[in-house]
Amino acid sequence: MNAIFPTGFTAPTALYLSLFAVTLVLHAVFMHYVLAGSTYLAFGRLMGPRRCAVCGWQSILVDWLPFATGLAITAGVAPLLFVQILHGREFATANLLLSHRWMAILPVLIVCFYLLYLQKSSWLARRRWVWRTVVAALACSGFIFIAWSWTENHLLMLDRDAWAPLYESGALRYASPGVLPRLALWFFSAFPTLAIELVWQGRLLGLDVTRPPAAAEVVLGLSPVRRLALAALSGVAGMTAAGGLYGQTLTAADREALFGPLGGPWLTIAITGLVVQGGTWLAAAFCNRMPHGLGVVTTIGWLATLCGLVAARESIRLVHVDIATLAERHATAASISGFPVFLTCAALTVIAIVWCVVAVRAGLAR
Ligand code: HEM
Repeated sequence: MNAIFPTGFTAPTALYLSLFAVTLVLHAVFMHYVLAGSTYLAFGRLMGPRRCAVCGWQSILVDWLPFATGLAITAGVAPLLFVQILHGREFATANLLLSHRWMAILPVLIVCFYLLYLQKSSWLARRRWVWRTVVAALACSGFIFIAWSWTENHLLMLDRDAWAPLYESGALRYASPGVLPRLALWFFSAFPTLAIELVWQGRLLGLDVTRPPAAAEVVLGLSPVRRLALAALSGVAGMTAAGGLYGQTLTAADREALFGPLGGPWLTIAITGLVVQGGTWLAAAFCNRMPHGLGVVTTIGWLATLCGLVAARESIRLVHVDIATLAERHATAASISGFPVFLTCAALTVIAIVWCVVAVRAGLAR
């Protein structure tokens, strides 16, 4: 593995690795919004009704979280298919070992989904404020549980030595020193994503941070853009700390993959993106607004971090599976026809989605 991910493999393997990475980035774009958004809301609700009414970000989150959850789930399906083509044996083994504990993500996801709708309801709006705090906290805890489950499942996949003892013990939990820092890394990485997504969403929905803030928008001494900067910078700091801690749990082979030719360039891209984001959010907090150009640079930095993170993540996994032995299986999978059908369906779906968005926008304008 002396070439940068995903090159250096046979063409079908490289194709599936690329498709997996790209679709996982897409999943993260929405999943981060849900994870950080529900956390932002759960903590925001503690400020009480008067302050929450002033915070435009909370209103946007209450409105959009159910839709974003739908997108996160839908976008999770594609990497779920590709991970099974690439690492079917490891993925299925971890699923089976974690058993009910793994399957629990489904009911939890359904409950969280309904809690987000409950949060929007006029029924809840008529109850005492404390119930809105409780509902937000429950939804947030549920999403953190789901993120924890994915992390635990991922690490169990990589730890073959743990499979037999875990099966024998019948335990439904895989305890490893890497779980908590890795979960923290994903958790904190969600905040810079949420912050930049809210910048763009706010511009579409009338909460424009390119202009100086009005006094009425200030909550606890923080303007809307400074609240986002605080969230993003806490995320950047948290990622740095969690990344450092997680790095200490890696084996020598993992480190070689992460810092070597396979993952090293991606790690550099991720860290560069993180530095860019840190700088631009500091500048935005200092100017008390985020001009358009600064927003574009932050977005580029954020995308670099996300892509770098996903590719570096996959580089580590590749040292745990003998991917060369699977080359034939990948070639067979790639040769099974259906790719043109997939492309046609994908194109039709994109056209349908664009048509829906255009139709709704036109309807709203009327
Ligand atoms: C909205 C709730 C969800 C949250 C908070 C969430 C969170 C996460 C996290 C944190 C990871 C990275 C795990 C790691 O690398 O340690 C992940 C990976 C992943 N998620 Fe999600 N997820 C959610 C829903 C879903 C759903 C519903 C699907 C499938 C339809 C899905 C599919 C995937 C896949 C395929 C991966 C990659 C697994 C791997 O490479 O081992 N996720 N998710």
